[in-house]
Amino acid sequence: RKPVTVNALADLRHRGERIVMITAYDYPSAQVVDSAGVDMVLVGDSAAMTVLGYPTTVPVSIEEMIMLTAAVRRGLKTPLLVGDLPFGSYEVSNEQAVSTAIRFVKEGGCDVVKLEGGGESAERARAIVRAGIPVMGHIGLTPQTATALGGFRAQGVTAERARSVLDDALRLQAAGCFSIVFEAVPAKVTKAIMPHMKIPVIGIGAGPDTDGQVLVYHDLLGIFDGFQPKFAKRWANMRSAMIDAVSEYADEVRRSAFPAPEHCYGIKQEELDQFIA
Ligand code: KIV
Ligand code: NA
Repeated sequence: RKPVTVNALADLRHRGERIVMITAYDYPSAQVVDSAGVDMVLVGDSAAMTVLGYPTTVPVSIEEMIMLTAAVRRGLKTPLLVGDLPFGSYEVSNEQAVSTAIRFVKEGGCDVVKLEGGGESAERARAIVRAGIPVMGHIGLTPQTATALGGFRAQGVTAERARSVLDDALRLQAAGCFSIVFEAVPAKVTKAIMPHMKIPVIGIGAGPDTDGQVLVYHDLLGIFDGFQPKFAKRWANMRSAMIDAVSEYADEVRRSAFPAPEHCYGIKQEELDQFIA
């Protein structure tokens, strides 16, 4: 398979083919999603919660995100790799946004970066695009600023708020974003916005009418036991499978059933005799 490019995603959209995106946070998860044939992989700042144990995405640092992004890079061949700029790493100025995005590309090895919000974020996106790095927007429920949005809840549920989702989408599109994530937007609001969009829209809790979908790896595999949003369908329950396996290991060690002979190294009898003598 050929590496997925920004242009290839636009082609998928033009052909009406759905785009598949998922998060990954380390080398093995990158290999899994690559083998499964997804189009785009996001090293989401959801890593703050799914793999680093923070209560929200707010505390995660640039350095932590770059370390995870670089690990995913090493496990990924085909999908487009999206780095997720963490809270506080791009809001201050265009200069800050561009230098953070450059670090993600150079040190993390991502192909493109993502940032949250419309408004000022559209100017940051424009500046990063001008520096030669493609940018993905993210609007609707933006977890980095969820407190200001009144918590983790659907966005655009009033006419006025739906209007601001549309405004944000148009601003990011005009700023040169190659794609936008819509998170937690009523399906009918998404449907009404889609005819205005010329770039691939990737939904998470935004209904069936976007050009593609994104989900968090740990949510769809059932690894994470924290809060499960309405849109997080589970295709597996890996957490209980992992707990079962580790429990069996503990049990076999405690009753001396492990290690068995096949897990032990041998030594020639004459060598052993000489050693013991
Ligand atoms: O961090 C993340 O996982 C995300 C996706 C849910 C879009 O931003
Ligand atoms: Na994110």
